[in-house]
Amino acid sequence: MLELKGVSKTFGGVKAVQDVTMSVASGEMRGLIGPNGAGKSTLVNLVSGLLAHSAGTLSLDGESLDSLSAQERARRGIARTFQNLRIFPSLTVQQNIDVAGYSGAASGREGDSVLQEAIERLGLSDRLNETAGSLAYGQLRRLEIVRAVALRPRVLMLDEPAAGMNDQETGSLAQALGWVRSQIDCAVLLIDHDLKFIMALSERITVLNMGKVIAEGTPKEVSENRQVIDAYLGEDQQQAA
Ligand SMILES: Nc1ncnc2c1ncn2[C@@H]1O[C@H](COP(=O)(O)OP(=O)(O)OP(=O)(O)O)[C@@H](O)[C@H]1O
Ligand SMILES: [Mg+2]
Repeated sequence: MLELKGVSKTFGGVKAVQDVTMSVASGEMRGLIGPNGAGKSTLVNLVSGLLAHSAGTLSLDGESLDSLSAQERARRGIARTFQNLRIFPSLTVQQNIDVAGYSGAASGREGDSVLQEAIERLGLSDRLNETAGSLAYGQLRRLEIVRAVALRPRVLMLDEPAAGMNDQETGSLAQALGWVRSQIDCAVLLIDHDLKFIMALSERITVLNMGKVIAEGTPKEVSENRQVIDAYLGEDQQQAA
């Protein structure tokens, strides 16, 4: 279980994340939504250790993460993808996957079948020997997810995995993520602006606005929440949800 208690981050005068308390259980897929600049990516950066929090505490299965580096957190199984992709373009797809595995909690061959199937389900099996730089954008996004799966994550944070994808690509991504979830016992934090995608995959959703949690509940509950409608959804989205 991933737990955040009173977590805050300020950049100069900007309160990017303010007093966020939330927990995501292993096996749960949690949606994290909110307007641009709400603090979603910053929250992922705080959990992964890319940024240090200004206040509060973070823990995984009761063990504090507060003093651990990003690398140590990765070794404990905290994996994430980036909103702005971070792939090594001159390495092959296979090499990009291997690099991720070495830095994480993965070891031995026991998990290889899950990783192999992830590669297939995410549509990359016939691309393994191509350089990552030659992949189409949607394939790069899927490669980032395979890399995160290679870490055998206990926490998997996906920052806008469907960004830039068409409806069909988003649909097959949703199917692949459903499979990932059924195979790996981890807490998933899923960020996206595609609400149909988020609502179909998440049993609960946390809503951020200006760094603060303004609502948390089922997709139906948050889509009917007045504060969420005013801050983010608008009336049209509320009706569509
Ligand atoms: N490294 C940084 N230095 C200074 N300010 C930052 C930094 N990273 C984020 N911010 C600011 O923190 C706030 C939250 O940004 P963040 O990127 O977390 O939002 P977001 O919810 O991910 O938005 P989006 O939906 O556009 O991706 C914004 O005001 C942003 O400008
Ligand atoms: Mg973001």
